[in-house]
Amino acid sequence: MKNIPLLFFLLTLPLLNAQKLTNQRALWFTDARFGMFIHWGVYSGAEGYWKGEKLRYDNDYAEWIKYRNQIGNTEYLSLLDNFDWDSIDPEEWVLLAKKAGMKYVTITAKHHDGFGLWNSKASDYNIYKQTNAKRDIIKELAEACKKHGLKLGLYYSHWIDWEHPDSWDHSKEITGLSKETYSRYWEQKVMPQMRELLTDYGEIGLIWFDMWIHHSETVVTKEQLLRLKKMIRELQPNCLINSRLGLSVEEDRDVDFQTLDDNQLGYAKKEHPFQTSATVAHSWGYHATDSKWKSTTTLLKSIIGNVALNGNLMLNIGPRANGEIPKDIEQRTEEIGEWLKVNGESIYGSAAFGLRADMHDWGKLTYNEDTSKLYLHIYNWPLNNQLKLTGVKNNPIRIYQLADKSKAELEFNHHEAVTSIKLSKTAPDPRVSVLVIEYNATPTVENDLVAYSFSGGYSLKPNNAIRSKGDASIIEAQKFGSIPEHVQFDQESEFQWKIYIDEPGQYNVDVSYSSQEKSANGKVTIVCNGSALKAKVQPTGKTVGEPNTDWHIDRYVAQKMGTFEFTQPGYYTLTMTAEPDKDKPIKFQWLWLEKVKN
Ligand code: GLC
Repeated sequence: MKNIPLLFFLLTLPLLNAQKLTNQRALWFTDARFGMFIHWGVYSGAEGYWKGEKLRYDNDYAEWIKYRNQIGNTEYLSLLDNFDWDSIDPEEWVLLAKKAGMKYVTITAKHHDGFGLWNSKASDYNIYKQTNAKRDIIKELAEACKKHGLKLGLYYSHWIDWEHPDSWDHSKEITGLSKETYSRYWEQKVMPQMRELLTDYGEIGLIWFDMWIHHSETVVTKEQLLRLKKMIRELQPNCLINSRLGLSVEEDRDVDFQTLDDNQLGYAKKEHPFQTSATVAHSWGYHATDSKWKSTTTLLKSIIGNVALNGNLMLNIGPRANGEIPKDIEQRTEEIGEWLKVNGESIYGSAAFGLRADMHDWGKLTYNEDTSKLYLHIYNWPLNNQLKLTGVKNNPIRIYQLADKSKAELEFNHHEAVTSIKLSKTAPDPRVSVLVIEYNATPTVENDLVAYSFSGGYSLKPNNAIRSKGDASIIEAQKFGSIPEHVQFDQESEFQWKIYIDEPGQYNVDVSYSSQEKSANGKVTIVCNGSALKAKVQPTGKTVGEPNTDWHIDRYVAQKMGTFEFTQPGYYTLTMTAEPDKDKPIKFQWLWLEKVKN
């Protein structure tokens, strides 16, 4: 009997959230989806330069200046002279986060420089003790977050600390550092400071650690990490912990979310929560010459793309030493906020959908399990104002634009596994437009299908085939893509695809390949619905990759194979057999199926 509550809990868990492996305490986080990262500290006073010299490293992370330019502890603090205390107001950062539609704010309580933004008893190297202004930025930010209803997160650099003599900075790879010496730092600074942060500032939503390699490769021991985690759990049972604690989510499911590499967007659907931390340009701390600003559309797609894979995005602002947020960041975050005000329903509380995430080339899907609403994020509004959703088997109840308050219904046609939607002439949003499809239950999906492309047909490629015979290893695109992704057939090989034809009629079939044969001896056969198209493989020769560089590459050409007649809507399988001539490989790229225009 004792096990029943646990069993009940385990059974209900998947119903509560689409991400099956989410810890209960992280449900707010997977609902929130979008947060703000703030890198602000002594380094903000340097703006990427020290005594006229630019930061000594190409990646230009301005918050690394103390280490990169070898600045001593005391001298480094001279940068605090650049701070304008009267104009620094953390509430303004929180207000921007709110405007941007962000649900949590994570600030660098202590970055690698070892300098705390609060009145720490455990180390005097902090903002309160080292300035006459006597500010406790963590306290101010905690109050502002509370006032405006946002969760507070704290970045804390546990592994690296360039101030404490017994801690780790990378020069110790040369001098060596014993675990015993390091543990002095751990006990004197990390544990007491973490205790302060978790005790004196109210509810902490998450602690964001920053050890980006596994503990086994560092001076930190697993025992130290587990003890730190235990203390967090005891002091604040609801506080989330990220994987840069040094323990991966695979190693310890109790770690609440995975932190991907800096600016690394999601690449696969994950059942355990993950987050990308992203910058608007490049540096995290304010950098005077950072200028490669990502556009608002790019940032929006980063959020959407991550949610479509069950992930979050935390976007960084690096305020200046006077607290000011760079205009280029402010403008973009506000624009994201405007978009979210209209379209936020497709992001907050939404997650990945059951279909393959890369199935449609026109955009991304997110899904809300509680409401059975599917959101179609259209990155590229089709010129013919027709959109096909492939792979969903249920009949939609209704379809409308999320931006349309009146929810005017769009005309659609549903055939077994394809929903064709008639769009308005112009996109409701110049960046990303969202359609809502309402279902009466979580729809059943067909993941084997090749989706209908926005180019107006079916693109059958090695990576969307359901079956293959022979060596089907995909050879990645090379030479800047001038040699496209392909599969090399050295012997008789086969690929099979599944499509759903919702518009019967005659379909042209093209095959794209390269063959370096001298004469046409190889063969390709495509079989579908009882008929076969056969062709000899033609020599395609070479082409020029880049003029005047002797860059001569295999030429890939699309050859017309003929037409297939589909008299009925339905599922069809298409099988392609390639028979290369002896020792003369066929480099296969794709098949293209397109309806013949009447
Ligand atoms: C890296 C850097 C650090 C930055 C962080 C943000 O780990 O060391 O400066 O704070 O990434 O993701």
